[in-house]
Amino acid sequence: MRFQYQSFAKFNIYLGVHAKRSDGYHELDTAIQTIDLCDELEFEPLENSCLKVESNGDGVPSGSENLVWKALALVQEQFHPPGGMAVSIRKHIPAQAGLGGGSSNAACAICVANTLWNLRLDQTQLERVGAMVGSDVPFFIQGGTQRCQGRGEILTNLTPMIDSDWIVVKAPFSLSTRSVFNRVRSILTPRNATISIILESLAKRNLLEVVDNSFNDLEGPAGELQPQLTEVWQWMLRKGLIGVRLAGSGSACIGLCPNAEMTDHILEDGRMQGWAVHHVRPVARGWMKR
Ligand code: C5P
Repeated sequence: MRFQYQSFAKFNIYLGVHAKRSDGYHELDTAIQTIDLCDELEFEPLENSCLKVESNGDGVPSGSENLVWKALALVQEQFHPPGGMAVSIRKHIPAQAGLGGGSSNAACAICVANTLWNLRLDQTQLERVGAMVGSDVPFFIQGGTQRCQGRGEILTNLTPMIDSDWIVVKAPFSLSTRSVFNRVRSILTPRNATISIILESLAKRNLLEVVDNSFNDLEGPAGELQPQLTEVWQWMLRKGLIGVRLAGSGSACIGLCPNAEMTDHILEDGRMQGWAVHHVRPVARGWMKR
């Protein structure tokens, strides 16, 4: 039997990068939101212990290089389920965009394996396995609106984001998360915004205050690596989008659309530039059964 799921993308409402740790990772303080741009995953439990992962996406590997394979192999190693799994992934979330597609797929796989292999792992155990796969994976176990600290694995639920219309733009160039983090200098640009203002604005359900105080420490390093980002950024501002930010480590950018009626025109115009452009809305989960 085959089971179909969707796994959602994310953007960082606020991304503060702090000290580099002895393990090479950075201390983070970030507020993350899942959005309804999603990949489609089909799972088929196998009686033998085999793992098969196929992906149709550009720049997304099939087989053991895929984060879904790594996630399922870890679950097998730690919890010894009775069988294996075949997974087929239809990608819609652009890769190397900062939208968390691979991490989201991995979190979905961990949670689906928990059900289909009847492992009865609780949320803490699921998040712990997720953290071994990647820094963003624990967030996607639940998704929605969360603050993530430490390497990304210390999670706090936040007031859900107000229903709203956002535009994601992914130009043809990509950025590697590792290269962007490697360019972060120890003394970063001073922050005008702090995460506490974002948390208060979310709690007050004041969307304009949220976008006014949104922030991403990786914008400077990403812009140095890929100066064409400025062109995308300026175009988004000219289209009337507000609070335009880099999504995570990029190369996608996201901005709030103040009026839902503007979206069709922006999508059409962005596609004429040769960019992938999506109209997205916040969702309150990381993945769901179709
Ligand atoms: O954990 P993940 O493999 O997703 O991280 C990708 C890269 O992002 C890491 O190799 C590291 O360079 C950078 N990173 C970091 N600090 C974090 C999370 C990610 O430096 N907290």
